[in-house]
Amino acid sequence: MTQTTPNAAQSGTFQIGGELRVNRLGFGAMRITGEGVWGDPADREGALATLRRLPELGVNFIDTADSYGPAVSEELICEALHPYDAVVVATKGGLTRTGPNVWIPCGRPEYLKQQAYISRRRLGVERIDLWQLHRIDHKVPRDEQFGAVRELLDEGVIRFAGLSEVSVEEIEAARRVFPVATVQNLYNLANRKSEDVLEYCEREGIGFIPWYPLAAGRLAQEDSVLIEVAARLGATPSQVALAWVLKRSPVMLPIPGTGKVAHLEENVAAAALTLSDEDFAALDEVGRQEWETQQAARR
Ligand SMILES: NC(=O)c1ccc[n+]([C@@H]2O[C@H](COP(=O)([O-])OP(=O)(O)OC[C@H]3O[C@@H](n4cnc5c(N)ncnc54)[C@H](OP(=O)(O)O)[C@@H]3O)[C@@H](O)[C@H]2O)c1
Repeated sequence: MTQTTPNAAQSGTFQIGGELRVNRLGFGAMRITGEGVWGDPADREGALATLRRLPELGVNFIDTADSYGPAVSEELICEALHPYDAVVVATKGGLTRTGPNVWIPCGRPEYLKQQAYISRRRLGVERIDLWQLHRIDHKVPRDEQFGAVRELLDEGVIRFAGLSEVSVEEIEAARRVFPVATVQNLYNLANRKSEDVLEYCEREGIGFIPWYPLAAGRLAQEDSVLIEVAARLGATPSQVALAWVLKRSPVMLPIPGTGKVAHLEENVAAAALTLSDEDFAALDEVGRQEWETQQAARR
């Protein structure tokens, strides 16, 4: 693919909550932390350089969480990009951390509110543009958790609110308490468990943020199922994976994660890659087959 100046604007735009316009191809800031999403990144300068490159590449939608590090990701974003100019920083709360790779939901309303207040301070903003409930905690009545989100909106701590890893039924339950602007679920070409949630979001004008859009890099590897199409288009497999999710739905806001400027530039260049309807359909079929094979292996 010949692309000299990658720019996320080429992915088109989406208005979060019908108001907050962002370029659809965003950035996931979980990978700018240490091993196991714990502590400082091995290459702190590289992480800061990656963040500072975002606005230059037209990326104006960044996803993070209080639990990435914890705190490290939000702190680095603030150090690199405050006062943000036109960049929207979305964060999340609701998972506690007791060590590398350990994530424990905590949905007590006072904890959720505390974490949003702390994220606001750490990011150095008056109001968080988008705050997402990282997980519904099944040990706590869900309406209490949704009520805390409602209060954060009413208190002006957050402007828009979203959910993560939820079903259609859970989104509908939350919408009875607060307006759901976005949903962030695991989704990529080869993982289609949230197809019904995506279709619901598309019908309702809710932004759908697919996490793991590169299957943690697996779809970027040389043996990826995308290799044939990528070779024909002169693109890399990760670019084809991102172009596929972008074409899948106008409400799709992918947030590929990396701590490397070169990978960031490669990913942003996917915004200019247009798949033909035939290539899209062929990849869709390959992805569904891979998903069904994975499901069968689990049974
Ligand atoms: N809501 C949730 O529960 C949840 C869960 C997980 C993640 N997330 C969010 O979703 C974002 C994305 O998810 P993710 O980071 O797990 O998965 P991902 O974006 O699918 O993959 C990231 C991995 O792929 C590698 N990579 C990125 N670009 C590449 C490229 N062009 N070529 C080769 N390798 C590449 C990265 O390594 P390098 O650093 O070496 O480039 C990293 O290891 C996270 O940053 C986070 O914001 C949300």
